[in-house]
Amino acid sequence: MKKSLISIRDFTKEEILHILETAKEFEQNPVQDFLTGKVIASLFFEPSTRTRLSFETAVNRLGARVIGFSDASNTSQSKGETLKDTIKMVNNYVDMIIMRHPLEGSSRYASEVADVPVVNAGDGANQHPSQTLLDLYSILQTQGTLDGLTINMVGDLKYGRTTHSLLQAMSHFKTKFVFTAPEELKMPKEYKEFLDSKGIEYIETASLEEHLNSCDILYMTRVQQERFTDPIEYERVKDCYSLNAQMLANVKDNMKILHPLPRVNEISQDVDETPYAYYFKQAENGLYVRMAIISYLLGHRPLR
Ligand code: CP
Repeated sequence: MKKSLISIRDFTKEEILHILETAKEFEQNPVQDFLTGKVIASLFFEPSTRTRLSFETAVNRLGARVIGFSDASNTSQSKGETLKDTIKMVNNYVDMIIMRHPLEGSSRYASEVADVPVVNAGDGANQHPSQTLLDLYSILQTQGTLDGLTINMVGDLKYGRTTHSLLQAMSHFKTKFVFTAPEELKMPKEYKEFLDSKGIEYIETASLEEHLNSCDILYMTRVQQERFTDPIEYERVKDCYSLNAQMLANVKDNMKILHPLPRVNEISQDVDETPYAYYFKQAENGLYVRMAIISYLLGHRPLR
């Protein structure tokens, strides 16, 4: 039976740890062409740099070929074709579909229409599970463990799908959360209720300085301009936080700054030169993790 990755909750803790172990193997040996003859679709209805290019590099490194688009205006969607019909067609050509789409739930819908595995590369403000797996890999690489950490999520916790997926994944481990956001961008109630149901601690604050020196991971996020319906509201919150190198004077030695990228003004460039910046290596890790996801879903790195 086919397996898709639509929400991080589709993977058990055992599967998550298996993907992280497999990603380590690919980091050590990133050219393995056991998918020769396979074709994988990369359907991006929304802009992307890292997710699309790292998935497509992963496909190439595994020996498969990519078809697809990065601009849906060049497809028959512009003539009125439905997502359902598009997926039914592409399904006939490929062994897997990787899809980013602005509508929440679109990837789940695609997986119900398709016979081949579907990977959600981001659906609106909902989920971005491959980003979560590379975030977990980055946390494990920098902290040596996923257990007992304090993760401070900063910025747009309302629309930032990467924070939603990450908190669900970290619920498998003994995590404490700090949610740093202005009132307008607070973590939605449903995710806090999820943490309550698991007995996981979280603190909410609007001050970036308040919990900066006590966290192990500072997870910065961009204010998601594309999700706002009111441009005046975006203008009011767009520069709510701006981290600079001076602010890091008293942080924990092991603290690492993650960011799914792209960044706008929330991390000053002087932070890039500090030992705490990990976001560019985090993006590189996406390649190894996405090689692991593709291999696993196509049955080449099964759970033992
Ligand atoms: N992190 C992330 O999803 O980046 P892109 O939008 O560039 O793919």
